[in-house]
Amino acid sequence: MELIKADENGLSSEELEKISERLHGGAVVAIPTETVYGLAADAMNQEAVKKIFEIKGRPSDNPLIVHISNMRMLNNLVSDFSNDAKKLINAFWPGPLTLVLKKNREVPNIVTAGLDSVAVRMPSHKVALSIIECAKLPLAAPSANLSGLPSPTMARHCVDDLGDKVDFIVDGGSCKVGLESTIILMTKKPYKILRTGIITKSQIEGVIGAVETLQKHEEESICSPGIKYRHYSPNAEVVLISGGISEFTTQVNAVLDGSSCAMVFTGEKLDLDCMCLEYGGQFNSAELAHNLFAVLRKVDELGFKRVFVRAPSPHCAVYDRLTRAAGRESFGENKRIKRTTVF
Ligand code: TXA
Ligand code: MG
Repeated sequence: MELIKADENGLSSEELEKISERLHGGAVVAIPTETVYGLAADAMNQEAVKKIFEIKGRPSDNPLIVHISNMRMLNNLVSDFSNDAKKLINAFWPGPLTLVLKKNREVPNIVTAGLDSVAVRMPSHKVALSIIECAKLPLAAPSANLSGLPSPTMARHCVDDLGDKVDFIVDGGSCKVGLESTIILMTKKPYKILRTGIITKSQIEGVIGAVETLQKHEEESICSPGIKYRHYSPNAEVVLISGGISEFTTQVNAVLDGSSCAMVFTGEKLDLDCMCLEYGGQFNSAELAHNLFAVLRKVDELGFKRVFVRAPSPHCAVYDRLTRAAGRESFGENKRIKRTTVF
């Protein structure tokens, strides 16, 4: 594996040419995007895409997002798209919004896990755009973590997870957003948000009117196969606790031991006898998103077996990721952590 570091001007033309040549030869490359790092390969090359699944240990029924750098590429991937899709593209691309649209026959089935739709997004990270533009290839790319682990938001996370399994890791610094893109299914009405992200339901509704959110009981359906898998979890057990500071300290102190730490909001002084890792201001959802995955990974790096997390507002995407990391169970005023649940 070769680590290539982008500077403030991005990559040099020699570096871009080198990466492009290898992508054309079927290589798999970890690239920075504004959301999280992606594990990218030529979307039209089945063998290259197969390698992505193998490297990640990703189930083959979990389809990939295809990353593009211009509208011509979109037209080569989808059979048609509605006026509403055009409106969302104008409003949010390039950026952290993925549209699921009807695919055309050119897109290999391995990319879409056999579905008749394809998920597409145009990232805004200039390094990602320059790689796609130079290679002139649409790039299939899931998040560049091993399946199940928190998504990587720094090149170092990709090195930890992937090491020599990839040809290149491109270091574009820490990802600005820090959470994966919002995904909206647009193949039929009512449109459905399949995954929340930094672009919110109300921002989308401001552009195309009312949309629905995927309900829990629908998650197992073919709608978005990837959603059903356990996600974003560090090796440590994540215990999510809603409510105020006193609720949190009472619950944690009742079960605390030496192998646990806490994830708290910036500036909080908690009466706890354990390490407290700050992950952002309580009401600053952008900051919480930016730091979430890096701090979850830090819990493992420091060797903790369990992390107690102060839950943010249930309306933000960070809360959604935390409930998945915690295996959906969360605690609070009406639910006490039992000793047996945490040991
Ligand atoms: O921000 C992001 O979206 C990052 C960066 C690298 O772009 N990518 C990412 O990819 O998070 P991944 O593979 O970790 O998540 C993609 C999700 C999966 O849950 C998958 O099931 C869903 O997108 N998906 C892909 N194609 C789909 C389709 N045709 N229909 C429904 N869901 C789809
Ligand atoms: Mg992922």
